[in-house]
Amino acid sequence: MVISKTVSDASIHSTFASRYVRTSLPRFKMPDNSIPKEAAYQIINDELMLDGNPRLNLASFVTTWMEPECDKLMMSSINKNYVDMDEYPVTTELQNRCVNIIANLFNAPLGDLETAIGVGTVGSSEAIMLAGLAFKRRWQNKRRAEGKPVDNPNIVTGANVQVCWEKFARYFEVELKEVKLQEGYYVMDPAKAVEMVDENTICVAGILGSTLNGEFEDIKLLNDLLVEKNKQTGWDTPIHVDAASGGFIAPFIYPELEWDFRLPLVKSINVSGHKYGLVYAGIGWVIWRNKEDLPEELIFHINYLGADQPTFTLNFSKGSSQVIAQYYQLIRLGYEVSLSNPFTSQHDFILEYMIGKIM
Ligand SMILES: Cc1ncc(COP(=O)(O)O)c(C=O)c1O
Repeated sequence: MVISKTVSDASIHSTFASRYVRTSLPRFKMPDNSIPKEAAYQIINDELMLDGNPRLNLASFVTTWMEPECDKLMMSSINKNYVDMDEYPVTTELQNRCVNIIANLFNAPLGDLETAIGVGTVGSSEAIMLAGLAFKRRWQNKRRAEGKPVDNPNIVTGANVQVCWEKFARYFEVELKEVKLQEGYYVMDPAKAVEMVDENTICVAGILGSTLNGEFEDIKLLNDLLVEKNKQTGWDTPIHVDAASGGFIAPFIYPELEWDFRLPLVKSINVSGHKYGLVYAGIGWVIWRNKEDLPEELIFHINYLGADQPTFTLNFSKGSSQVIAQYYQLIRLGYEVSLSNPFTSQHDFILEYMIGKIM
């Protein structure tokens, strides 16, 4: 994002490209003339040397190394616009397979021939916006049918939520009711969260893998307490699980842990493909429990690229490479890799993997 500030120099001085560029380049205006491609490359490449080294960057838990075979697949699809599903039906099919594989990993209650409801996104933030919108619309529809007001929706979360929840609340006009953290307890207390639920609560959001310390919130306890509260009040407040980090960890190393669609109130889950889904930045997923949990009116049907295409995303065009890379990782690693890996924990495995030691 560019925010207004004063800069000390209006030019870019590219010493090493001086054979091609005899005058400095304007920093914020398009240069008057074109320059040779070699010069453009050298100027930008030289300037980028001042960035950090992604392979040494474990901040934000985003994948920074992938196998060369996958790099090759990504490069060969870098010019495919994902939204053009008629032109790239195989890419669409790979996305749909990813949605179904992830839904099954999260124990979605699918019949044998039933396909899952979900979509690939740019990351967990977009996934959370979509999940939040589905909850808001579902709550509004129910309230309207009961002749009740719909002007004051809220979400209950822990104060440890990632900024995307605050963004969702502000952008889509939903009050964020945060359970305060306390000394020595840095995740949402399910009992306090359920206490804060009222008739205007569109969902309670639990986190599997808090951004601050990686800790899993107790989604099972949250579910059980909320089932009780729903019984007493007649409401049907649902749960969303923000599994941005934990969604690709828990199914492998804590398969017995009940945090996903095994719990009846969990209606949607997001996960970042670019975190422990082991794909470069730019991919997330949101999966819904059932089709009823994603109100039909949020799905747009476009036909001007060919046949009818249902879409539910915030943006239209996006790259295809990350979707293809996610499919690569899912079939390349399979479920058993984490069970048979020689490392003491999945975390070690992922660290080794991300810095490129596993070949
Ligand atoms: C718990 C949690 N939710 C959501 C996000 C946002 O994820 P993304 O960067 O994929 O948009 C993060 C990112 O760190 C996170 O830790």
